[in-house]
Amino acid sequence: MKLIHLTDLHLVPPGAMLFGFDPAERLRKTIERINRDHADAELCVVTGDLTDEGDPASYELLRDVLQELRVPMRLLLGNHDYRANFLKAFPDEPRDENGFVQSVHESSAGRLIFLDTLVEGSGHGSLGGGRLEWLLARLATSDLPVYLFAHHQLQPIGLPHFEPWNTENWRHNMRAIVGAGNVRHIFHGHVHVDVGGTWSGIPFSASRGVAHQIIPNFVRRDADFVEDAPAFDVALIDDDGVLVHRFEVSDRHVVEISAAGPRPETVQ
Ligand SMILES: [Fe+2]
Repeated sequence: MKLIHLTDLHLVPPGAMLFGFDPAERLRKTIERINRDHADAELCVVTGDLTDEGDPASYELLRDVLQELRVPMRLLLGNHDYRANFLKAFPDEPRDENGFVQSVHESSAGRLIFLDTLVEGSGHGSLGGGRLEWLLARLATSDLPVYLFAHHQLQPIGLPHFEPWNTENWRHNMRAIVGAGNVRHIFHGHVHVDVGGTWSGIPFSASRGVAHQIIPNFVRRDADFVEDAPAFDVALIDDDGVLVHRFEVSDRHVVEISAAGPRPETVQ
C-alpha cells in the first residue's frame, strides 16, 4: 500500500500571510507534486494543524484547495484547529461517539486508526475524555497490523521546545499502546521537524510539514522558525515492513553523472 502523510498546513484566511509566506500556495504546490507523482496512493492522511487559528474562512479555503487532490484523504485536528469550525466546513468527516474526530480505515495493509489529540485552547495533546479507551478497544479487535495517526507526538522526540507540548500522560498511553502488541508504526505531526525512531520497539515518523519549519535544538527551550521547502512523506507498506520516504517540494536538477564524478572504470 502506498500512503501519503501530510502535516501542519497552517492555512490562514484568503489574502492573509503567515510569517511572510502564503500557506495555501505551499499546499497547492504540494498537491500538484502529489498528483503528478503519487496519484496512485490509497490514502492521504493530513495529521493536523490544518489551519493556523481555526477560523471558518481558513477551513473554507482549505476545502477549496483540497478539491484539487486526486488521492482520497482523511483529515486530523491539531492544536491550532477548532473542532466546531472544522466540522462546519467538513461535516462528513467521521467522529467517535464522544464527538472527537477519530475514526478507523480498514486498508489493504491493515487497520489505520486516526486519533484526535486536540485540547482546545492548549498546545499540548491528550487522549483523555475516553479517547484512549476508544483507541484500545480498536486495537483489541484488530487481527491485522495497526498504524496510528495523530497530530501530537505520542512519544517524546528529544527536543526541550516540545516537552510542554507532548501528549499528556504520554508514558501511560504509550505503555498501553505497546501492550496491545499490534501497532506497527505511528505517524504524527506537530513538531515541524523531520524526525523518526522507535519507542519501546514501536517505530514512528514525523515530517517537517508543509508550512514553516523549526531548526532542531537539543538544549534550548525556544525555537528558531524557518521557511524550508514544503515536505511530505510517502509510506510504502507491505507484509514485510514499512518504508517512509520524504519528498521535498522544490525545483531539483538532475545532474549528469559523467560531469559529477569519475567514470566508473577510473574508480579506485
Ligand atoms: Fe503546527
